[in-house]
Amino acid sequence: MTVNALKHPKAKAWVEEIAKLCAPDEVYVCDGSQAEYDRLMKSLVDAGLGTPLKKRPGSVLFRSQPSDVARVEDRTYIASKKEADAGPTNHWINPDELKKTLNGLYAGCMKGRTMYVIPFSMGPVGSNIAKIGIEISDSAYVACNMDIMTRVGTKVLDALGTDGEFIPCLHSVGKPLAAGESDKGQWPCADMANKYIAHFPETREIWSYGSGYGGNALLGKKCFALRIASVLARDEGWLAEHMLILKLTNPEGKVKYVTGAFPSACGKTNLAMLIPTVPGWKVETIGDDIAWMKFGEDGRLYAINPEAGFFGVAPGTNTDSNRNAMESIKENTIFTNCGLTEDGDIWWEGIGYGAKGELVDWKGNKKPAPAKDKSPKGEEIAHPNARFTAPARQCPCIAKEWEDPKGVPISAFLFGGRRPGTIPLVHQSRDWNHGVFLGSIVGSEVTAAVISDQVGQVRRDPFAMLPFCGYHMGDYFQHWINVGKRAPADKLPKIFYVNWFRKDAGGNFMWPGYGDNSRVLAWIFDRCDGKDNAVETEIGFMPKDGAISAQGLSVSPAALKEILSVDKEGWKKEIADIRKNHYPKFGSKLPKELSAELDKLEARLK
Ligand code: GTP
Ligand code: SPV
Ligand code: MN
Repeated sequence: MTVNALKHPKAKAWVEEIAKLCAPDEVYVCDGSQAEYDRLMKSLVDAGLGTPLKKRPGSVLFRSQPSDVARVEDRTYIASKKEADAGPTNHWINPDELKKTLNGLYAGCMKGRTMYVIPFSMGPVGSNIAKIGIEISDSAYVACNMDIMTRVGTKVLDALGTDGEFIPCLHSVGKPLAAGESDKGQWPCADMANKYIAHFPETREIWSYGSGYGGNALLGKKCFALRIASVLARDEGWLAEHMLILKLTNPEGKVKYVTGAFPSACGKTNLAMLIPTVPGWKVETIGDDIAWMKFGEDGRLYAINPEAGFFGVAPGTNTDSNRNAMESIKENTIFTNCGLTEDGDIWWEGIGYGAKGELVDWKGNKKPAPAKDKSPKGEEIAHPNARFTAPARQCPCIAKEWEDPKGVPISAFLFGGRRPGTIPLVHQSRDWNHGVFLGSIVGSEVTAAVISDQVGQVRRDPFAMLPFCGYHMGDYFQHWINVGKRAPADKLPKIFYVNWFRKDAGGNFMWPGYGDNSRVLAWIFDRCDGKDNAVETEIGFMPKDGAISAQGLSVSPAALKEILSVDKEGWKKEIADIRKNHYPKFGSKLPKELSAELDKLEARLK
């Protein structure tokens, strides 16, 4: 469609202004049709950027530049007017200065390219929790990914009308083409020093430049649905969280909905699609990465999944660890930075089988296929942050209510991360504020989902929102405390801290994880159901002896006991670290309720 399809004068004026600045060869407004998707995808294949996969109908493999393989936290900015409003955990930059720099970079940056105008809805079109954005991008790869990850096109423009609200999201890969030049198979992006993932919380704008990858470029996801939405949620009294949403059904057919916040590449997609090893239980998926939650008239928190697809970590995904994901990616899927087999299929480390002959690795080099599904570190066939983009509707365990505009009522929040020591398999907070305390102290090993030299080291990642909170994290903690005052305790979700990643002295995982995490989900469900299955400890409520089903579990009784008990010495060190290195960062913005929780925990452990 042409710009004239925009019946919203403000949107049209913005698009025309950006077109003038970026100087694309043409401007195209996306209608969201299958024909359009097919056309754009063909243009990417013709440009040598995508390889159609013979083994997977409607699926294409992309390889990015080695500098453009994950989110770039060091180049991600919160450009609030005051530095103090970005807080100690964000990179702040003066918005006027940043706009000057970026206007310079954007000038003429789309030469030789098409400017795609992508109207999208985060959440079911028409839901009162949903919100609309318009992404301008010079990447057809981004347009195709957005088409899977969000609801795109004419239906969104209709919902927007002539004066509806939208978040303007500007994106360029930052690689203009000279006359006659084409990408010739080279993933377009800018050098690291010229990448900017910028957010203007006051004016609610997103400006992204220089990267074509994932959360840097698909602006509906982390930029809008978390960084900007967290600001909206603070102002409007709701929650925008880095959480999966799952539906849990017990053997009697009773249903509860649970969300879980784990840092990037720490198991949200896997938990959301889990196949229980405990007989009679069922897990279905509502969402795998982001939850938007508002109070309903009954005083309970209702969650929607603002997304429409999965941008999932490929390595480690196999029919044992996540059969539902494997089923979801059989067709109509975009793969990025996976390996390619001789017979036209994808391959990655941890896919569950070796390959034959030669593989093409994520850098485009031919390599002998490993006989097993492992490669030495640094020599991976698939990049550790290789991803699949698949429509949520293709997931065999997608819940029937996943698009319900009113959302689903939440019974429990889970927090967690990769912690080799101290944190037990599961414990429950004593009350809401203690639960907010647990969220605020989450720590995790840094994963390949971010370009960083700290991969593998433990860092605090409060609420799994460290890279995604659009304002001062101390104010965010306070917002969570305030949410707890909005409803009686029995209406609020109960709060749990889980850890699937405890390791023994030999560095091996002590808990099998994946489907066996259902054993913990079942305990949590019963806990929310009022069952007498817990004991009170210094750190909170923990499973009674035998309350975590151990039938068929491949964990020795001693190891199980260890991960289900309180590591007093470990917790004392934890408290000291929080006191010295974590909480002081927030200064006077640290809610007094949280320092009180820390004191109380310390006193209980004495
Ligand atoms: P983002 O999409 O980056 O937000 O990640 P995510 O939180 O959805 O993580 P995901 O479920 O994709 O898992 C990331 C990696 O952790 C994959 O390689 C999984 O195989 C692995 N993983 C997931 N769950 C478990 C578990 O219970 N135990 C162990 N040991 N590994 C797990
Ligand atoms: C994450 O890093 O938490 C992701 C992937 O879900 S990305 O979309 O790149 O942010
Ligand atoms: Mn994520």
